[in-house]
Amino acid sequence: MSLASKRILLIVSGGIAAYKALELVRLLRKAGAGVTCVLTRAGAEFVTPLSLQALSESRVYTELFSLTDESEMGHIQLSRAADLVVVAPASANILAQMAGGMASDLATTLLLATDKHVLVAPAMNVRMWEHAATQANIATLKHRGVAFVGPNEGAMACNEYGFGRLAEPAEILAIIDALLVRPKPLTGKHALVTAGPTHEPIDPVRYIANRSSGRQGYAIAAALAELGARVTLVSGPVSLAPPADVTLVRVETAREMLVACEAALPADVAVFAAAVADWRTEAANLKLKKSPDVALPSLALTLNPDILATIAHANPRPRLVVGFAAETHDLLAHATAKRARKGCDWIVANDVAEGTGIMGGVENEVHLVTAEGVETWPRMSTDEVARRLATRMAEIFV
Ligand code: CTP
Repeated sequence: MSLASKRILLIVSGGIAAYKALELVRLLRKAGAGVTCVLTRAGAEFVTPLSLQALSESRVYTELFSLTDESEMGHIQLSRAADLVVVAPASANILAQMAGGMASDLATTLLLATDKHVLVAPAMNVRMWEHAATQANIATLKHRGVAFVGPNEGAMACNEYGFGRLAEPAEILAIIDALLVRPKPLTGKHALVTAGPTHEPIDPVRYIANRSSGRQGYAIAAALAELGARVTLVSGPVSLAPPADVTLVRVETAREMLVACEAALPADVAVFAAAVADWRTEAANLKLKKSPDVALPSLALTLNPDILATIAHANPRPRLVVGFAAETHDLLAHATAKRARKGCDWIVANDVAEGTGIMGGVENEVHLVTAEGVETWPRMSTDEVARRLATRMAEIFV
């Protein structure tokens, strides 16, 4: 990996994970990048300016109103001299300040003044991460184009477990490399992706669902974002962490998924990886009770709206509409017919018969059905399928 001649402005905010910023600086320097560090007051409680200075081999900035700093390099210039601004670790507090547009110290002033792409690696206690305020701030920042890496799931310094651990320095480095070095053919394009199952309520505690894990859709959303697309991921209930740089819209039912997809239009690409429940039933307001004296309940089913077919006929229609076909038999015949019936450009077909381990698994074996015919891809990880699909989609736009 070479980041030679790239300049990173690294903002280190407060938190126990701040010590990992030292390793990140070391890796960045090793990859050839120039690194200028800015330490917030809280960050300076955890790492010293001297350690950052020694590793970055550059002056470390800490205070906004130092006249010496201003005369050497004004804060606006500092924020603009970089190719990328990285905030690692980013505390809940600095995220809130960024979302609110505050400029209360050198770090937040730089973030407000910069015209460069900003990458944020959050680290905080799991409850702070899950708090609605933090999630709202993140949604705001993502909407403004701020890129995210992590946080990861794991044990925390505060003896709790969950999301909130800073992404590993090597992961942060890989994202920096992706943002600065690799080409971004989908920059400026909007991609809509659906993923996961839908839950169709029967009563307040029961629902109709399916075995979809959402993994393939999440991987596609991440792969499209990596290629520079602005991605809206409309997801049914899954237990996956949202991919970096993706706007996540959580829904439960097929009807909610349709509303969210329509609200996300216009899109250049739309990928329908969700396993939408075909049917719903009239949900009871109260929990259904069983009793030997009461007849067994029967569920009257109603057909759900076809989200893929609706968006494939929307005006304006996404330039590329991709559907999935999960079949247990006559895969290619069903997939080809489905492509025509639903009005989509491509169908990604996979065999989900028992024993294939595909449904809910981490590998996939797909056939790409297009107007030109059928391509059969070898079995590979869901991430690899996603990257290949995203690359193929990007080719449409060159
Ligand atoms: N799909 C959708 N909305 C639905 C049902 C399906 O958007 N209500 C999308 C899926 O996300 C997938 C594709 O349509 O991309 C194929 O889904 P599938 O359920 O296999 O299609 P059906 O037409 O319902 O086919 P089948 O006859 O096999 O049930």
